[in-house]
Order: sequence, then C-alpha cells, then structure tokens
Amino acid sequence: MGTMAAKRNHRKARVVVEQLGAHLGAEITGVDLSQKIASADMTAIHKAFVKHSVLIFRNQELSQAQYISFGRQFGELTVHPFATSLPDHPELIVLDNDGESPPLSTDQWHSDEMFRAEPPSATIIRSTITPPIGGDTLLASMTAAYSGLNPALQDFYANLEAVNDFKVFRALYQGTYEGRKKLVEMEELFPNSTHPVVRVHPVNRKRLIYVSPQTTKYIKGVRDFESEQILQMLYQLPEVPEYQFRVRWEPNMIIIWDNRSTQHYAPRDYLPHRRRMERLTVKGDKPFGAKKKMKSTVVEMNVRGTDKAEKTGSHRKNLARPAAKMTK
Ligand SMILES: [Fe+2]
Repeated sequence: MGTMAAKRNHRKARVVVEQLGAHLGAEITGVDLSQKIASADMTAIHKAFVKHSVLIFRNQELSQAQYISFGRQFGELTVHPFATSLPDHPELIVLDNDGESPPLSTDQWHSDEMFRAEPPSATIIRSTITPPIGGDTLLASMTAAYSGLNPALQDFYANLEAVNDFKVFRALYQGTYEGRKKLVEMEELFPNSTHPVVRVHPVNRKRLIYVSPQTTKYIKGVRDFESEQILQMLYQLPEVPEYQFRVRWEPNMIIIWDNRSTQHYAPRDYLPHRRRMERLTVKGDKPFGAKKKMKSTVVEMNVRGTDKAEKTGSHRKNLARPAAKMTK
C-alpha cells in the first residue's frame, strides 16, 4: 500500500493546461475533480492558477460534499458574513437568481470580500443551472492593468492606500431598528480595512491594482475631490477589453479565480431566466504593498484618513447574521 501511494505521489502530472486568454484564463483537462487530486496534478494546477489567474474545468459532475472537498484542497474555506449559505454547509454560498430574485451588485467590477483585513485568495464557482442566453462571468487581470500604466502613474499609485468597507451590504440592514442594531455589530466585526492601492501578489510577487467600487471608500491622506478622481481613474482599468477574459457557462463547469490578481463582473443580462451557481471561498492573507507606509501629508485641511469606523473593532467570536436574506 505504502509503495503504491508513494508511486502515485511521485508520478508525473497528468493534467493538461491550455492557455485561453492573453493575460488570464486557462482550461484544465485530464482530471476528475470528484476524486482526491494526486499531488503532482495539484502542483501543476496550483502553478497554472497563479500563472493564468482563472482556471476552467468542464464536465465535472460532483456531489456537494465532493465539491467542498475539492475546494478544501486549495486551503481553508471561509463563511461569507452577508451571503445566504446552506445551513449544513455554511461555507457554500448558493447564487440562485431569476426575474423574481435578481442578484445584488454583481454587475460591478470587484474582487470578493475586500472589506476583510485578510480578503480571500481564491473564489470557486460551479454552475448547476445555466440560462439559455447571457449570465457570463467577466474577469479582468489587475496585474495586466498595473503593467499597462505609465511608469509615472505606477509609482504615484504605489504610494497610496485605500480604505475599504462592506458598503454594498449595508443595504441589507436598512429599514428597521433591529436591522440598524445588527449593522453596528457587523461594523465591529468588520471594521474598515486599509489596503495598499498597488498590492504585491504574495506568490508571484507581481504588482496589481487593488481598489474596487464595491468596497473602496476613499484614498487615505488626500482631500475628498482628489480621492474621488484618483478612484475614478482606477475603476476604469478593468473595463479595458485587453485586460479581460469572459467565461461562457455550461452545466457542470467549475472555475476558480485568483481573487488577489483579478476582478470580476457578472452581468444581469440573463434575467428573467434562472441561473444557479454554488460558490466556495478560500481564506487569504493580509495584502501588502510595494512601498513602505505612505508618508504623512502636509495638507492639513479636509484630509481623509481618520474615520470613526476604522477605529472601532473589538472582534466578537460569534458572527451576527443579517436580518434580511440576501439574494446575490
Ligand atoms: Fe463576486
């Protein structure tokens, strides 16, 4: 038995990696994800994941338990504090939308859960019901977006930090006194997080742009009008077609994206048809930038950089759940 296992572990990878996009996107074949992946194959998949940022696996029919086991091979799975998940599998988010239940804020460029101090390293999605038309997922390489900048702008952005908040999810708590009380609890659990505007990927050490309209509130240490205009310039970067890759979903497809180096956008163009996906999220680490801490500004008036919400944050152990159900 021992010799057999050793042989299996030392054999060469069987998976085939085919690059699909210029800056991101590759298809992996030659692997059955319902089974534990042999270590040589897992190494090859991991390498392809960091290199191509988005991996596609077709025709993978897995039970929910098998799907979760597959996800765990990429790291610890986390529970989304605002999304609806399955009671017996809290790490599995069901994205089930149609005309009656449209998604919330997925049609905006973002990286998942940037409001966390340690945002996820990867997001895994599998399709269970695909619409007849539309419902693609667009992804953009924020590494390519950074590389495409004029060096003067690269240097300028690398000195900045941005404050992030779970701002879109605040809508879940509006309307009732109970809701507002819950919101205060969530603010304590997830205080605003400051991330570098130019993040360094922890594995390949490449620089990438790390702000998103879904979570970024402002650039630290500059005036409001400056912050707004800097962010507007950065928000346009994932919209450049050359940096994008588009996934056309088929049933039983699994994709995994590097949530550090990419942003994604899910158009609502399939409504009123039904689209049902299952998402897993892999724990990540604290983002770090290319430069040391930004020097303090000499401009004293109207400077953002202190925010009451940033200073709160006695982390409680139990997660408060949102009062309203979210459909995403
Ligand atoms: Fe997302």
